[in-house]
Amino acid sequence: MSKKIVVLTGAGISAESGLKTFRGNNGLWENEPIDIVATPEGYAKERIRVKNFYNKLRTTLKNFQPNNAHFALARLEESLLENFLLITQNVDDLHERAGSKRLLHMHGELLKLRCENNPEHIFDFNGNETESTHCPICSASTRPHIVWFGEMPLYMQEIELALKECEIFAYIGTSSVVYPAAGFKSIAHSHRAHVTCLNLEIPNFDPHTDTFIQGNASEIVPKWVDSLLG
Ligand code: OAD
Repeated sequence: MSKKIVVLTGAGISAESGLKTFRGNNGLWENEPIDIVATPEGYAKERIRVKNFYNKLRTTLKNFQPNNAHFALARLEESLLENFLLITQNVDDLHERAGSKRLLHMHGELLKLRCENNPEHIFDFNGNETESTHCPICSASTRPHIVWFGEMPLYMQEIELALKECEIFAYIGTSSVVYPAAGFKSIAHSHRAHVTCLNLEIPNFDPHTDTFIQGNASEIVPKWVDSLLG
């Protein structure tokens, strides 16, 4: 197998690990106003509340383990090496803990903070961010390394190039409603990639999707990877 494959994952891949998805019943945002915890305006108004929201998520992260879907994607990468790219909208570290390395966190990472003075100052962080947490490079104040609504997702140039070059594109466990990630299938499809959707709920039809595989990610993703690796 030497085909170029790009995979996009969303919150659904981590659901069976116990992490809440964003939308749907009992979603992550059920008890928190999105306009406060997921927008730059909300952060400007309520900095401590927003930092604490991400502090709480960060502390709970260690209680969750990668599942068979995360491990299957790491296995696919092991076989394809540079022909594989994993893009995730998730801010958890379950893909890394499963062994994925060719991985882009387009919506940021819970286990990192970023400097408020220089956005290129990004550093590992696994504690409780407060107003006295400072950038280790320039001592300015910090913020969660999370892409909020209205902000530009990360690595977009690299992602667009990979989407145009891939022969297979799959999107897994994502509701496909948040752009630009929701538009990746149409970019890949219009550049002749075969597009597969793997999700718990699937639509009857999508003009940019060739194959739909319905089920729990921990069951369907390992089978899909097996079918690719033959
Ligand atoms: P959503 O919560 O919108 O969607 C999760 C998807 O996973 C739904 O389509 C579910 O049907 C599916 N799902 C749930 N359990 C599953 C399972 N066990 N196996 C397979 N699929 C399952 O999450 P995302 O699409 O990731 O951005 O949300 C996209 C972005 O919305 C997030 O990255 C976040 C939010 O705005 C930022 O925070 C910047």
